Amino acid sequence: MNTTILKNAILDIVESNNTISYKLQTICDYLKTEIEHYDWVGFYFRNGEKEELILKEFAGEPTEHVVIPFGKGICGQVAVSNKNFIVPDVSAQDNYISCGWKIKSEIVIPIFVNGKNIGQIDIDSHLVNPFTSEDEQLLEFICGEVSKLY
Ligand code: SME
Repeated sequence: MNTTILKNAILDIVESNNTISYKLQTICDYLKTEIEHYDWVGFYFRNGEKEELILKEFAGEPTEHVVIPFGKGICGQVAVSNKNFIVPDVSAQDNYISCGWKIKSEIVIPIFVNGKNIGQIDIDSHLVNPFTSEDEQLLEFICGEVSKLY
């Protein structure tokens, strides 16, 4: 994983002359294609002032979990904790919403605008324990760039 190349490509996407939705979709497609252990990439955003997340752009298999209440699953927990959540093995989690038997691990990083948690990037992997601090750093960078779009 060449973080410099990935970060530069992300900058090109966010600085391009396109809609936010197009940029987010391009980021999802790009990450899923370029990073082998990323099997599903999506953005969830808070639904106004409601305590729920709505799935926006994503790459990978469609999921029925397009609305996630705060506190539910890994995503819902991050909406409340405001902290990164790395799950090396989803089978060890009680509060987890399954998106299919193939998914073995997950990483969720919150997006902050003016200190407020507005949403998150969510990555699922078919591998057990694939995520390192390199992924965390890259995704924090991406969330920082995405936050500038809002
Ligand atoms: N696994 C997530 C649900 C969303 S999917 O991964 C697309 C969770 O537990 O919150």
